[in-house]
Amino acid sequence: MRAAVVEAMGRPPAPTEVPEPRRRPGEALVRIGAAALNPVELHIWNGHFFDGPPRPPYVIGLEGVGVVEEGERLAPGTRVRVEFVHPGYGRDGAVAEYAVAPEEPDASDRASQASVAPIGDQLDDTAAAALGVPVFTALMCLERAEEAGASLEGAHVLVIGATGAVGMVAVQLAKLMGAARVVAAGRNGERLKRALSLGADAAVELGDGLAPGELRDRFAEAAGGRLDVALDPLWGRSARAAIDAITREGVYVSFGQAASPVAELSGIPLRNRRVTVVGHSGAWATPEDRRTALARAFELAGRRGAALTLDTDEIALEQIGDAWEWLSRSAGRKLVVKP
Ligand SMILES: NC(=O)c1ccc[n+]([C@@H]2O[C@H](COP(=O)([O-])OP(=O)(O)OC[C@H]3O[C@@H](n4cnc5c(N)ncnc54)[C@H](OP(=O)(O)O)[C@@H]3O)[C@@H](O)[C@H]2O)c1
Repeated sequence: MRAAVVEAMGRPPAPTEVPEPRRRPGEALVRIGAAALNPVELHIWNGHFFDGPPRPPYVIGLEGVGVVEEGERLAPGTRVRVEFVHPGYGRDGAVAEYAVAPEEPDASDRASQASVAPIGDQLDDTAAAALGVPVFTALMCLERAEEAGASLEGAHVLVIGATGAVGMVAVQLAKLMGAARVVAAGRNGERLKRALSLGADAAVELGDGLAPGELRDRFAEAAGGRLDVALDPLWGRSARAAIDAITREGVYVSFGQAASPVAELSGIPLRNRRVTVVGHSGAWATPEDRRTALARAFELAGRRGAALTLDTDEIALEQIGDAWEWLSRSAGRKLVVKP
């Protein structure tokens, strides 16, 4: 079969002919219809992921949608979503014609966590593959803010990285969860316009030259005098500015460090305004947690008569080299491979 294979550390994935994977007891063999690319693939590939360098050769791909060919409990023909939290640490991923994953995930196998679960047929393969990680991540970050004491009902929410996949979904979900005002922040002006069209009330451009104080003022002004929750995949300068802009008892949620691995923070918001700083990593959730978060997000959207939207580009497996390059430049659209 054809698969996108990383042959050696630092070598981009390439379309490669490999043996079809064999199903072991308790696993399902799935014919993949579409597999989405996520930035964490790059962190795994370049050895910066917190589990350390992967073990090539491996097939990339955290998530995909397809049809069961052979299963233990799952009948052939069942439409499923497959998930490999960290392909490359002993398991192959989803960017291939076929993939295998356990029907009953082993939660103790954290490094390569893999699972397969039936899904409905409301979305086509491409949309179902695209609306996986970004949807449960955005929902879990917003719920994390609630767990930390924020109420989203009537809240003013800042979504940093709103030009990216998680941010674009977070804008939509924040509104569906009751936010009164959502501010989208990002570098790409065109994508910020898209965030506005999907429900954001205001946008802030993250100009490179802005000092944290200027950025804080822009966040505060766009939030309309109150900022209750901020979600941030960037860390660094924007974390400082967001935490400084958050008003009393508000919550900041970090879910990435795309801009910088470190941030210089002031303690004043934590002491004087009782701002809470928390983080979220889907990698530490269980497959069940992620699956139910996905279901909750779609259930919420359905109840409100809304459809979660993500601009998506389909690419062929043979284009994986270009796609890898686009992913590393944060192309602004979700990339979905059709193997
Ligand atoms: N914690 C978790 O469970 C979890 C789950 C999913 C994703 N993540 C992380 O969250 C981040 C976003 O994921 P995604 O799927 O939304 O990715 P994406 O679609 O590629 O979007 C990346 C976002 O980060 C912004 N960005 C990247 N580098 C930047 C920089 N140096 N300065 C300012 N902005 C920068 C991009 O802005 P432009 O549009 O201007 O390029 C865009 O808004 C990634 O770092 C990813 O690893 C974490």
